[in-house]
Amino acid sequence: MIEKTLSIIKPDAVERNLVDEIKKIFTENNLNIKDSKKIHISKEEAAEFYKVHQSKPFYDALCSYLSSGPIFVMILEGKNAISENRRIMGATNPKDADPNTIRKLYGISIDKNSVHGSDSLDNAKKEINFFFKN
Ligand code: CDP
Ligand code: MG
Repeated sequence: MIEKTLSIIKPDAVERNLVDEIKKIFTENNLNIKDSKKIHISKEEAAEFYKVHQSKPFYDALCSYLSSGPIFVMILEGKNAISENRRIMGATNPKDADPNTIRKLYGISIDKNSVHGSDSLDNAKKEINFFFKN
């Protein structure tokens, strides 16, 4: 199924100038970038975006981190885009990520893991709308 999903290149990767390299990995894996923008969100916006994690011990640090510097948000489109993006990203903890995944290649730690990707069709729709509402 042709799907759309939301990808975020997180502050640790934007600040290391990895945006073009990461975009290339997506396009080489048949995920087309339909829209994109570089933005710097507030902690309040990060808290809204990551609301699903509000009961987790890492929530406050996660929101501080996502709002700590510019991020690059993208709508990716392609066959099975949601699961394909998750596969290309690799496991949440870069230490556990498969070889050649973005998080294995570029992730620094479980919190500075370079990319976000929607985890379901429903969340993909919500997350795309969060950043790209018209
Ligand atoms: O990003 P992903 O969907 O793989 O993982 P998640 O479980 O939805 O967690 C969201 C984000 O929270 C992760 O990408 C990590 O950056 C962060 N996190 C963390 O800092 N410490 C943890 N123990 C788990 C997640
Ligand atoms: Mg997640």
